[in-house]
Amino acid sequence: MRTAQLNHPNSLDPISEIVAMLAHQINSPLSCILASAELSIRHVNDEIAVRKHCDNIIKCADMIRDLNKKILEIEKSCQFRTETIAPAALLDKCLDAFKDLYEVNHITVEKEYDCCPPLIRCNPFGLEQVFNNLILNALDAMSEVAYRRLLVAVKGDPGIGVVSIWIRDSGPGIPDNILSRIFLPNFTTKKSGNGLGLSICKYIVEKHHGKIEVVSRESRGTSFGIHIPVNNSPKIIDNPINDQGQRAAMEQETGLCHSY
Ligand SMILES: Nc1ncnc2c1ncn2[C@@H]1O[C@H](COP(=O)(O)OP(=O)(O)OP(=O)(O)O)[C@@H](O)[C@H]1O
Ligand SMILES: [Mg+2]
Repeated sequence: MRTAQLNHPNSLDPISEIVAMLAHQINSPLSCILASAELSIRHVNDEIAVRKHCDNIIKCADMIRDLNKKILEIEKSCQFRTETIAPAALLDKCLDAFKDLYEVNHITVEKEYDCCPPLIRCNPFGLEQVFNNLILNALDAMSEVAYRRLLVAVKGDPGIGVVSIWIRDSGPGIPDNILSRIFLPNFTTKKSGNGLGLSICKYIVEKHHGKIEVVSRESRGTSFGIHIPVNNSPKIIDNPINDQGQRAAMEQETGLCHSY
């Protein structure tokens, strides 16, 4: 196992980060709209199916409208407003928004949630962007493989004070020689990528005094772990993972681990 700490020589300043986020986050609901429109055309003779896909288009269009409203709010205050939420409910909301993409791309989604993980104090809008980015990256990665399984886990023990959210895909994995660069702004290996998703995730997770890590090996898939302190107290999480079994399983299955 290797652990790397990232120096961020070309980190974006917060205002640029917000502007980049605005441009970038519109892509997630837009992808869903495209998938739902494609499914509507495919099922044009099935009124119930078309209705379902149109509902999803409306939901995603609403997301874009909310996004603009919320980003303008963030820009105004230049700081995150926090709420107490159940992380699994927020993750479910994000997973649900992509459901037509799973159908179009033949992806199975599995969930492993602890029965009562603690609530967390966070900016739900910010964490939603983290989950959306990681889910979209996983979907992109799995387009390259035949076996497509997305596994999401929420692990948390009130005694330790950290909730861990894992998003794992069965994609091709991340090559060793780029693993240490994936969180850098503008780093991308995709033809149409901006290389902003993961740097935005890291920025938002750190705003919550949390950590993000990646466990990956070529041909064995990729797992991203997000570790958020329950009370959002400004402490460094040296050993954020209270679910050692979960981490060991990820390492065994996917190989290398880099913490940021
Ligand atoms: N789940 C994953 N599997 C394989 N590679 C990944 C995965 N997630 C990220 N990567 C790699 O990390 C790079 C950076 O990801 P990031 O989300 O920051 O940017 P992007 O997806 O390329 O573009 P953008 O998110 O701005 O549209 C990707 O181009 C890809 O090479
Ligand atoms: Mg991305």
